[in-house]
Amino acid sequence: MPASTVIKARKTKAAFAAADRPAQLLAWYDRHRRKLPWRPLPGGTIDPYRVWLSEIMLQQTTVQAVGPYFEKFLARWPTVADLGAASQDDVLRMWAGLGYYSRARNLHACAVAVLRDHGGAFPDTEAGLRSLPGIGPYTASAIAAIAFARQCMPVDGNIERVVSRLYAVEEALPRAKPQIQALATTLLGPKRAGDSAQALMDLGSTICTPKKPACALCPINDGCAARRRGDQETFPRKAPKKTGLLRRGAAFVVTRGEELLVRTRAEKGLLGGMTEVPVSDWLAGHDDKAALAQAPALKSVARWHRKVGVVSHVFTHFPLELVVYTAQVPARSRAPDGMRWVPVATLHDEALPNLMRKVIAHGLG
Ligand code: ADE
Repeated sequence: MPASTVIKARKTKAAFAAADRPAQLLAWYDRHRRKLPWRPLPGGTIDPYRVWLSEIMLQQTTVQAVGPYFEKFLARWPTVADLGAASQDDVLRMWAGLGYYSRARNLHACAVAVLRDHGGAFPDTEAGLRSLPGIGPYTASAIAAIAFARQCMPVDGNIERVVSRLYAVEEALPRAKPQIQALATTLLGPKRAGDSAQALMDLGSTICTPKKPACALCPINDGCAARRRGDQETFPRKAPKKTGLLRRGAAFVVTRGEELLVRTRAEKGLLGGMTEVPVSDWLAGHDDKAALAQAPALKSVARWHRKVGVVSHVFTHFPLELVVYTAQVPARSRAPDGMRWVPVATLHDEALPNLMRKVIAHGLG
């Protein structure tokens, strides 16, 4: 056989393999899909409210962490109408611990908007979904595909990894995003867009893992360019990360018997509307004396006790270290303006971010 015929035959085989991929992925998904609380069983009815709630919770949070929160929310607010009628405070309290709290404020605002502007039904297009609070391009695409079978391919971190390996995408993230989006879209079948997307998500989290991917079990391993080269773990290529400067500050854990001094953070900005113990500014050029000068004004505190060690936390844009000062004040001491006493026993009812849970544990420990 002439060489040109062999090359042609190979090309045709590769083209067939690529055309089969959406079907191979769906067949794999039908056998191996993860059972997740927000996924109906095969053949079950898809509830856009559940899809939306899960997608908002899954932004920047793992499937494992989201599970119990999803169940709690659904038990308390079974429909978007129930959630829209709740107070923002209750939603924030229930969200406490999941992090990135602007998501909780937007979640509530979105439920209110669905009731007010859309008669209680989520819009069923990507563009309609984009117009709602807290729904960006990825989330709109995910909800449109999963809840409304629109031909969209949402690309999350798992899908980025699968696709960048499958095609050995050399461009580094984030610049590679448009290319990866276009390649991922070719993996959509003619129907079942939501399942195509979730098949890739599941593949990425169970087989095409960041380290030691289980390529032998992958349903589309025959066409994987990175596997052929043997350097699959090096994908996706990533531009070096710019992390913010370390900021430092002080936190003040003040007890009055069994009560703790707290305040509510400003509505806008980092941890907006959440509960905190009083803190100093958080600065790269931190200075202990200046931080201590920002301690709450309590006449009965003659001396602050500095706890050994620091509390560390990493926000998206900067890492933080807080030193913790403690003091005990007599019964009936008044809380400074803008602050209040809460019983330690009912702290779980407060919208306490993880950082504050760590600070309080350190201060009371
Ligand atoms: N991550 C984001 N959305 C998801 C989904 N629907 N299934 C699994 N993981 C996800």
